[in-house]
Formats: sequence, structure tokens, C-alpha cells
Amino acid sequence: MSETVHRVPDGFGARIGPRELAELNALADAQPDRFWLDQAKRLTWNKSPTEAGDWSFDEDTFGIRWFADGELNLSVNCLDRHLPAHGDRVALIFEADEPGQGRSMTYRELYEETCRFANLLKQRGVKRGDRVMIYMPMIPEAAAAMLACARIGAIHSVVFGGFSPESLAGRIDDCDACAVITADEGVRGSKYIPLKRNVDAALEEGDVPTVIVVKRTGADVPMKRGRDIFYSDWRDALATECEPEVMNAEDPLFILYTSGSTGKPKGVVHTTGGYAVWVATTFDWVFDYRSEDIFWCTADIGWVTGHSYVVYGPLLNRATSVMFDGVPNYPDFGRFWETVDRLGVTIFYTAPTAIRALEREGDDWVTRYSRRSLRLLGTVGEPINPDAWEWYYRVVGDSRCPVVDTWWQTETGGILISPFPGATDMKPGSATKPLPGIKPLLVDAQHNVLEGATSGNLCIASSWPGQMRTVWQDHGRFFETYFKAYPGLYFTGDGCRRDEDGYYWITGRVDDVINVSGHRIGSAEVESSLVSHRKVAEAAVVGYPHDIKGQAIYAYVTLNAGEEGDEDLRKELIQEVRHDIGAFSAPEKIHFTPALPKTRSGKIMRRILRKIAEGATDGFGDTSTLADPTVVDALLAGRQ
Ligand code: WTA
Repeated sequence: MSETVHRVPDGFGARIGPRELAELNALADAQPDRFWLDQAKRLTWNKSPTEAGDWSFDEDTFGIRWFADGELNLSVNCLDRHLPAHGDRVALIFEADEPGQGRSMTYRELYEETCRFANLLKQRGVKRGDRVMIYMPMIPEAAAAMLACARIGAIHSVVFGGFSPESLAGRIDDCDACAVITADEGVRGSKYIPLKRNVDAALEEGDVPTVIVVKRTGADVPMKRGRDIFYSDWRDALATECEPEVMNAEDPLFILYTSGSTGKPKGVVHTTGGYAVWVATTFDWVFDYRSEDIFWCTADIGWVTGHSYVVYGPLLNRATSVMFDGVPNYPDFGRFWETVDRLGVTIFYTAPTAIRALEREGDDWVTRYSRRSLRLLGTVGEPINPDAWEWYYRVVGDSRCPVVDTWWQTETGGILISPFPGATDMKPGSATKPLPGIKPLLVDAQHNVLEGATSGNLCIASSWPGQMRTVWQDHGRFFETYFKAYPGLYFTGDGCRRDEDGYYWITGRVDDVINVSGHRIGSAEVESSLVSHRKVAEAAVVGYPHDIKGQAIYAYVTLNAGEEGDEDLRKELIQEVRHDIGAFSAPEKIHFTPALPKTRSGKIMRRILRKIAEGATDGFGDTSTLADPTVVDALLAGRQ
């Protein structure tokens, strides 16, 4: 296959060019411990680590630790150490939903806000190791709340504001949170999101003792006496200093829930030292960070991208990070580029789904703005099709900004496969090559490791500092999910092709995770929501290709005897999923069918369901194991 190759644009002039990259790779291979301990020097430690990685992916010796004798505090690393010389530097630029309605916060201001929050949490009895839920819009107080947890050693768990009260309740319950930090309301695309009311609904049955409410819109929200407090009522009386807790490198920093193939969402646990080393390092490498940069990652802090590249990665590097509380199409499709010009953004990092949606609206929305400040573009979250890549490169970046297509996962903490913008030739659609120290392998279903140009399931052969350490309260599930399928390897759940130049092309999930607009959705979660409807007998949910969202959800539903599948029921079921999980998980299509294709042992043949959802009318492969082969014809007849 012939592919386009784009060389590093002239004049990019990165700190890390091909020679420096080759040196990094060589050192990482030859002396991994020294290499990783060198990276750890990016942080300020109370006690410097003397060991790098100590890990095994094998069942009998399974465990992952990094820098395990090191001690540090992450809020100190993000804030305090920058203050003596750079306290007046802008840490966060808050860009509100209404253009120009934001404000910025210097490192000193963010430090003081963090200390106030930390002191308030302490006053409310939150201690080291306790879990604190954060359910907030993209406002600087959300970052301060995360850093405040890090300061006192509490473990934060941020939940995306688009999740329903039911989803929030499930997460609060799973990690047994002792406090929730929220806002009265969020505002996005001029729509109001009733965050506090959602928290109230989530806590109806719980006994969480503290809810701290930050005023974002000033809306009148019910407050429960004794439990709920407005941050603004306390703020001015809170001290702007707070002694940081000294944490062990392996103490948990946060839990972030993510969807997998089966069951309810997993609480992915990241620890303090390794995660921080990894996001500090990758932010510097992949974004070629320079002190004059204004960095804008459009992700929400409710997802891992927001944790690693809106908050921790930039702040550890003393960068200026934009926190965007809006959407790409409000007030119009020029929003990103108008904001880039107004704020002087130099590095812009977004998702393919946003790029595709904007491309469709035409170049004029882009070209009417100058975008001269931009020098580097990035994407994350799902495979980017070469056409969208080219548009991003050519129209948005005027063919002068490298595009870094960064592959990684909630589980990996930070980027694992990506170009170095000043060193790696780019191929549109490929995340290119692993970062130094990362060892990807492609394997087939028979556990054979495949060499050379080939396709297979993507595994990683050795640990890296930012790797997740466990599933909250379920270490067995951690092993089962990621290390059982291919003994001795971390299995990513992604399929991948490697070309003759050793470039990696992620093809998407090979498990039952559906990636809708870069949001990970577990088919099992959507199915369990659908079957909770009294008229539904069974449901099977698959992804199918969608022009803008990458994938969309196609739900097959069988009904209880005597029930009729009509338009009203379709609407009800979609509503049910929105209510149970969140609007972003709503099926695009609902297909009522008399039966699902099952093997004689009762297993649903999802392969067939995926094909039909994609629009195939034949080529279903071997259907002889179906208990009732006529089911396929019935399914084809009822296709949506
Ligand atoms: C997909 C987001 C192709 C992949 C950081 C992965 C990608 C899942 C890319 C993780 C990319 C992420 N190219 N696919 N550059 N980046 N993915 O946990 O399927 O929300 O397994 O982390 O997104 O999604 P998650």
C-alpha cells in the first residue's frame, strides 16, 4: 500500500530531533533503570527514588511498582516549586462557554485556591487515603479541587459532568467517597447542566457527609443542611497555606472509572510517583514543550486526557494550560480558531470526532482566522482517518504544524505511541512509533508474537511508570482483564497493524468496547440499561461506523411476549439509556427483532450483529454453529 509521508515541516526546530530521539531510545533499551530514574528527576522529591520499575506481568509474581522508595507530593510539584521564580506566570486560562468570558489564574493564585480547598476538605474531616468525588464543569476550581486532594493525600475520582445521577451514584458507592465537590450548574453550548441537582439525586440513598458547591451560574439550588456548603461562603476565611502530605510514590493519586467489555465500569487506579513522571515526561516529549507555549487540550477533566494533559502534565512542566468549558460549535463553528487567535494558543490537542465535525462545515470557518500562533497540532481518542488528518494538517495548520496522533488509554496514564514532532516522519492515520521505553507487540489469537509488517492484537511487553496499578478494590479483575488473555503481556483491547517501516496503525477495539466520539462505552452497560425496561427481554449492543462520531451504537432488542416494538418504545428506550448512563451513550439505532443469533450453547454471535449493523447483507462467515440459522434472515429484514 502506498501511503503519504509528511516530513517534519521546515523551521519547526524542535529540541528533540532524530539524533536526540535515537539517543533516548538507545538509553531506554540499554539501561532502562537509569533511563527511568533520569526521567524521575523532572520531579521534586522529598526522598528521591533509588529504584525504577519493579514489576511482573506473570500470574504468580504479578505486581507493578515504580520508584517505590520515593516520596513526594504532587501538588507541590505542580505548584509550590514554581512559585519562587514564576508565581506570576499564568497557570490556567479559563475559557468559558461564552467567548471572552473567562479569566486566568497565575501559579500563585492556583496555589492559594488549592490550599483553601485543601483546608476546607480537612475541616470537613477528609483525610489521607479518603476518596473525594469531583463532578464539575471545566472551571479552574475543578483543577484546584483535584490538586487539593493531592495536597492532603486524598484520592480524587472525577466524574464527567455528562454522566447521569445513576452513573455518579454507582461510582460514589464503588469507591465509598466521603465528599463530593460540584458546582451549582454547568453551562455548555448555552445549555445549562444541573450538576448539583444530579448530585442530590445520586445521593438520595447514600450517606455522603459533605457536598461542596462552587457557584458557577449562581442558580438557586437546594442545599441540605449539615451536608451541603457553598465554597464561596467559606473561601475568604480559609488559609492560603496548607502543609502538604508527604506521599509514597505508590500511594494512589486518583481513581478514574472507565468502561470495559464486561460488567460495570472499572475504577482505574493511578499512583502518585509513576503517573507524575510519565505525564511530565510525555507532555515535554510529545508536545515539544517550550516556556512560551500556550497549550490547549480540549478534553474534559472527566476523562483521562483532561487529567493528564489539561491538569497534571502541563502544570508539572510549569506550562500555561487552557481550560475550555465550551463546545466546538458554539457560538459557531469558528469557536476553536477564534479562541486560538484571541489567546495566542501555540499547541492545540483535540479529538478526531471534533476535526471531522468541523471539516464538514467547510474551510471558511477556519481560514477566516489567522491561527499564526499555532505551531503544533495533536489528536487523541480514536483512530483518525487520513482524510481528516490531511484537512487538520493542511487547513488548520497551514501545512506548517506537525500533527501528533497520540495513542494511549485511561489505563496507560499517558501517551505511549506518538510521533516526536521534530523527529518522526508522519503518516496520516498512523500514531507512528512507540515512545522510548515502550515495547508494543502484535499477537494473534493463538498467542503467537507476530514479527514484521502484520496485523494483530496490540499488547505491551514491559511496564512503564504511568501504567495503572489496579482496579479499585478488585485486584483480581485487574489481572483478569489485562494480563490473562496473553500471559506475560499487557493486552490493550485494541487491534493494530504494523507496516514495513515499523509504524503502528491502530484499527480500533477488538473487544466489546464502543468508541463514540472518543468516549468509551461498554456494550454490557448499555445492554443492562435496555433490559431494565419492563418490555425488553434481551438486548445486544454493537458499534457501527459513523461519519462524525467514529462509531455509533446499534442496539438489537427482543421484547417480552405480547409487546410491540414501535416508535414510542424506541424513544422510551433511548431515554432509558440517557437516564441510566448519560446522553452520550444513547443508541443511534434500535432494531426490534424476534430473536438474537445465538450458538447452541447460548452465546450471542456479535460478529453477525456487527456485520448487519455495518450494512452487510452477506459474508457472515460460518453460521453453522447458530442454534437457528433463520434468525439471520429475520435480522436482515428488520435492519434499521
Ligand atoms: C482509542 C483516551 C486510535 C483506543 C486517551 C484506546 C485511539 C481507547 C487513539 C482508549 C489514537 C485512543 N488512535 N485509537 N490516537 N487514542 N484511542 O481510555 O481504542 O478513553 O484503547 O483513553 O481509545 O480510550 P480512553
